Amino acid sequence: MSDLVTTSVKDGILTIRMNRPDKKNALTVEMYDDLTKAIKDAEKDKNVRVILITGAGDSFCAGNDLKDFLENPPKSKNAPVLKFVRAIADAKLPIVAAVNGTAVGLGVTMLLHCDFIYVAKDATLSLPFVNLGLVPEAAASLLLPRLAGHPRAAEMLMLGEPFSAKAAVDAGIANAVCEPEDLEATALKTAKKLAAKPRNALLHTKALLRRDFESVAARIDAEADIFRECLDSDDAKEAFTAFKEKRKPKFQ
Ligand code: COA
Repeated sequence: MSDLVTTSVKDGILTIRMNRPDKKNALTVEMYDDLTKAIKDAEKDKNVRVILITGAGDSFCAGNDLKDFLENPPKSKNAPVLKFVRAIADAKLPIVAAVNGTAVGLGVTMLLHCDFIYVAKDATLSLPFVNLGLVPEAAASLLLPRLAGHPRAAEMLMLGEPFSAKAAVDAGIANAVCEPEDLEATALKTAKKLAAKPRNALLHTKALLRRDFESVAARIDAEADIFRECLDSDDAKEAFTAFKEKRKPKFQ
């Protein structure tokens, strides 16, 4: 486990913190491996009853590291990013997310696989896949329209513009907006309530709520096939290079 993802267990709650604040917690291959391991290890540990996920510093997660997309693109069906997505989508334990600031790309789509999502009032969320020459991942193309309805999902996924914490709640992808200073305490309060529930009934209930995992898993794979093609495109390469060079992309 690197120190780019930290974990701690207290009172049956595993807190996973993405810890790369200088890069807004953008996720590298190493961090995906750490996150997957944290989820899988928790599932084997009878002392862990709930997972709480949050970010260090002023951001929740800026999505995939765009430098990694250029230099180390996820070419295989078993790339670390996909292993993480499958692990969180298939997680047996309840997951509470405390979105403490900016959430972009996978920083938002991972929330679709969490059970309780609290967002700091000043957080901004965005799903800019199209603007990067990419397509949605983590079954967002299936789950987001289900939660938010097609028009809102189209707005979020096809325009890719930033939206507020309140808009996330209105769209049904988060439970509540919190004052930033109350965020972690609010998430922890829910995690503690869950940790006190009868474990067996709670895990069965989550499994029943997430019963259509097969269609989610199939969509994760279908999106990933197109995503890989898009990663190779001139548009995507131009978008990542433009980000690196701190300029606006020029698409053909
Ligand atoms: N990949 C790699 N580095 C990233 C990153 C990412 N996804 N997101 C942020 N960073 C880095 C920046 O390059 C910058 O590094 P530097 O200090 O070495 O120049 C640092 O994090 C701070 O980011 P900055 O852009 O200066 O902060 P900001 O508050 O102005 O904006 C974001 C924050 C997240 C809105 C902006 O950085 C952004 O749009 N990032 C890209 C997000 C993205 O497209 N993710 C992929 C989705 S599929």
